[in-house]
Amino acid sequence: MTKAVPRTQDAVDKSASITQENYRFLQQHVYQHSGIVLDEGKHYLLESRLIPIVRDVGLADLNALCHALRGVGQAPLRNRVVEAMTTNETLFFRDKSPFDALRLKLLPELLAAARHRPLRIWSAAASTGQEAYSIAMLLLEQGVQPSQVEILGTDLSEEVLARAREAVYSQLEVNRGLPAPYLVKHFTRKGMSWELQERVRKMVRFQQLDLRSGIRPLGMFDLVFCRNVLIYFDLATKRAILEQIRGVMQPHAYLFLGSAETTLNVDERFLRKVVEGAVLYQSMEARA
Ligand SMILES: C[S@@+](CC[C@H](N)C(=O)[O-])C[C@H]1O[C@@H](n2cnc3c(N)ncnc32)[C@H](O)[C@@H]1O
Repeated sequence: MTKAVPRTQDAVDKSASITQENYRFLQQHVYQHSGIVLDEGKHYLLESRLIPIVRDVGLADLNALCHALRGVGQAPLRNRVVEAMTTNETLFFRDKSPFDALRLKLLPELLAAARHRPLRIWSAAASTGQEAYSIAMLLLEQGVQPSQVEILGTDLSEEVLARAREAVYSQLEVNRGLPAPYLVKHFTRKGMSWELQERVRKMVRFQQLDLRSGIRPLGMFDLVFCRNVLIYFDLATKRAILEQIRGVMQPHAYLFLGSAETTLNVDERFLRKVVEGAVLYQSMEARA
């Protein structure tokens, strides 16, 4: 098969507009494969995320991309489109207060509850790994031995997980949220970037997982970070995911959500608490 000749940027930009039918097709495609709801009128988002793929595979425009996606044997292209529509924004010690709560209040209690086994912590939408590694560094700073803890990072996107496993961050990324003493202590310069030291990297395991799939096989957790992902889902999907998360929380376990997320009016079987300025949730059923 002859590879289509890539069009010039101008040609692609002029032909970026998408038919209503294809817009709906992409909405459904992204929803089906990720749960992410793409609202009406987000043409700019589709274009900024998908035109690079259009160019890369040498297609004419978004309509041609939809045509290709409808074809058989297009699984890699389908995954690429879904991955491109995920928002992977993250940073070290994001929002600070959950990490303060963990350090100042929760850790002794959680360690006591898990004294005969490793403490299990889940970063449920791990993106490029900053959240899971922030937890790992915090625990080390608190004197927790790596053998005392298992940290699991999961995400839908293989692309971000590959970066998380690599654990090499740009200057810009380490400037965002990482305290300078942590940078000095836990990272090594690698060219223009910073590589997280093996001791910390080894504390976290990353695994691909769609939060809408069965999560029981992951086992039970003492602490769950599921932050800044529920916002992309509709109510039914949020509800189903929160129910599943409750199912893998130990009776004493805590859940952190993102600052714009809540269990309120979604799943009433969570108890909301405020600790050190951080909002966290415990399963009511487990505590009844
Ligand atoms: C904005 S990032 C959040 C990163 C981190 N938790 C934080 O708060 O900084 C959202 C992540 O959710 C992932 N995601 C989207 N849909 C998902 C799904 N259905 N299952 C698992 N992860 C998903 C995306 O790939 C993305 O990396």
